[in-house]
Amino acid sequence: MTDSNDRSEVPPASAAKSPSSFRTDERDDGIRVVTFDRPDSSANLLDPTVLESLVKLLDSLKDDPSIRGLVFATAKPSIFIAGADVRSLGENLSREDIARLVDLGQGIMQRIADFPVPTAAAIHGACAGGGCELALACDWRVASDHRSTRIGLPETQLGLIPAWGGCTRLTRLLGPAGAADLILNARLLPSRHARHRGLVDAVCPKEHVLGLAVRKIKSGKNHACRRLVGRLRRLSAPVVEWTARRRLERTGIAALYPAPGLALSVICRGALKPVEASLGMEKDAIIEAATTDVCKNLIRIFFLREKASKKTGKGALPERMAVIGAGVMGAGIAQWFSSRGSRVVLSDVGPEQVDRGMADVAALYRNGVKRGIFTDHEARRAKDRISPTADEAPLPRMNLVVEAAVEELAVKQAIFRDLEARTDPGTLLATNTSALSVTEIASVCGNPERVAGMHFFNPVHRMTLVEVVPGEKTDPETIEQLLDIARAAGKVPVTVADRPGFLVNRILMPGLVEAVLLFEEGMTVREIDETMTRFGLPMGPLRLLDEVGLDVAGHVARTLAAAYPDRMKVPELLDTLLRKGRLGKKTGAGFYHHRGKRATPSRTTAWLRKSRQDHTPLNSQAIRERILFGMINEAARCLEERIVGSAEELDLAMILGTGFAPFRGGPMRYADTIGPARIAARLSALAESTSKRFTPCALLRRKADNNETFHPGAKTTEHP
Ligand code: NAI
Repeated sequence: MTDSNDRSEVPPASAAKSPSSFRTDERDDGIRVVTFDRPDSSANLLDPTVLESLVKLLDSLKDDPSIRGLVFATAKPSIFIAGADVRSLGENLSREDIARLVDLGQGIMQRIADFPVPTAAAIHGACAGGGCELALACDWRVASDHRSTRIGLPETQLGLIPAWGGCTRLTRLLGPAGAADLILNARLLPSRHARHRGLVDAVCPKEHVLGLAVRKIKSGKNHACRRLVGRLRRLSAPVVEWTARRRLERTGIAALYPAPGLALSVICRGALKPVEASLGMEKDAIIEAATTDVCKNLIRIFFLREKASKKTGKGALPERMAVIGAGVMGAGIAQWFSSRGSRVVLSDVGPEQVDRGMADVAALYRNGVKRGIFTDHEARRAKDRISPTADEAPLPRMNLVVEAAVEELAVKQAIFRDLEARTDPGTLLATNTSALSVTEIASVCGNPERVAGMHFFNPVHRMTLVEVVPGEKTDPETIEQLLDIARAAGKVPVTVADRPGFLVNRILMPGLVEAVLLFEEGMTVREIDETMTRFGLPMGPLRLLDEVGLDVAGHVARTLAAAYPDRMKVPELLDTLLRKGRLGKKTGAGFYHHRGKRATPSRTTAWLRKSRQDHTPLNSQAIRERILFGMINEAARCLEERIVGSAEELDLAMILGTGFAPFRGGPMRYADTIGPARIAARLSALAESTSKRFTPCALLRRKADNNETFHPGAKTTEHP
């Protein structure tokens, strides 16, 4: 919703420009429009300065007899209010600071809720956290049907809870079950879904949002019926709390993340209390949540992610690009870029492969429509931006070509040799290889300076990380452009060195291999996987192997074993399973037996391992140490060899690339909480008792000897 759009509908009588992040327009019909437009920023955010000016504005308007209504709108192209400015929360806020911020925010929302004339939020674009709380305080919420419009309270993702009235007012609007579902799962709803759930009152094209908000205001406050329904729904609070708490406990979230449990208490217990008491509960709960290490780690990761996403202006979303190879990754990459607006040529060796790729693309779009990410029309238009082909025709005027063909050096080299001839000299050429050398792939090109690695993760539409890999001869400008292209496409890029496994696979693989070795030694699938999910990994290592495919994982493991034979080897069992065609989920069996979405540990696979009658059972701490400390050792080696720029980038990459327990802040932050000295000592003991592969690397030993941490100033707090 642009400013000019608003004015074309109902011209304001006068406009008073404020130096702050919003301005107020006074219309002829007595309705005031407060338009948020944070200067020099693409986002509207609520920081203490904005909040204080809002207090002044609301206080000055509330007794003005000429006002008939108040509408909140945005001048930004894709953001209503993205939430509280997390920077104003900092990483180390005291309880008093948090209490002050909560009082300020709650005070404003209450002023809006108590405003003597009707109020409405004209929502276009992201309406999250504090922005949603502001909308909830209004009498009416009208949203644009644009795909950038997303509404919700995602605070629990940062280890916080909505405490500017969000828990209290959402519960009164949707009932405890609806509020708990949105808040505990940090859902951001597309406008149609928000309408369906009752979070907004009406949805319309963005050009009409302001006009519709004004019409709603003219119909008055009119909430008696809604209040009665809300009161009846709130009676279900005890049952909702019991059910949701059991779910949090069953899924292990309760033990790892405090915020959802705290939010649930406020929602369900606050539901049966007056608004003021519920707001008090919000305040106590957020103070408790915000001072935990979990919250601090999540906010830290948020900042790291923001930093990595900052564009430099060197590159933009490709207008025209090609993807070579229409398999799992090629189809995913083509779908992702086309959904963002790029025109994509998707090619493969034959019509059959191309058709299969396009069927995968279509399925991804169907799924997106089902989840409310695209409308039918948007999905169709985006899919039409992909031109499938089995021809090796010239690829003129391409900004970028991403190669995602089979993982064989000779195949990739042949493709790059050919690409040089088929593209303009200015086209950037990227390979999506997961483990081959970018330098070797580029070596066949006359212009290797425009070739680099661009390693997307599977599934492309879910995993935000992209490893950008310079080959020996890649021009730094090529890397800058690729980093910006990834950012413009909504991904988070991290630059990593061209060594086997790059960064994420190199650290992850020792953990996966260790899990297989533990299984070979006699541990059960459940013992291993449950230990690691209890630690906070999104899925156990053996389940992950099944999901990735033992053939794909085996390939990476072999590449790493060839590069680092002193410490990596491919477990015998992995080869046995590959020989028997037990490749994991794709063949229905691997470490698990897969039936639909259900997976149960496979007995056949357990029989296939050499029987180890003499094995010593390990407790979960010992399992965890072998898997995690091995990964931390490899991660420290990556820092030592400068595979990645810093421990922080490493943490971010592992969280975004593998889901490594975000609340622990990533592997190096976790290592700091245990203490490098303790980890090095334990690894040395394992090197003696189990295998030399555990020998701590030089950097870890140095950190241990000097009593240092990987992040300067980090505190050792935890027993492993
Ligand atoms: P895939 O086997 O699903 O697809 C590969 C496609 O490349 C096939 O459709 C094949 O017909 C096509 N192809 C083979 N030779 C070709 C040629 N000369 N020209 C054009 N197309 C050709 O493989 P997937 O899983 O999509 O992997 C592709 C690349 O992405 C590999 O380098 C892989 O290592 C990498 N990768 C794979 C990930 C995964 O989880 N599957 C994750 C990240 C990277």
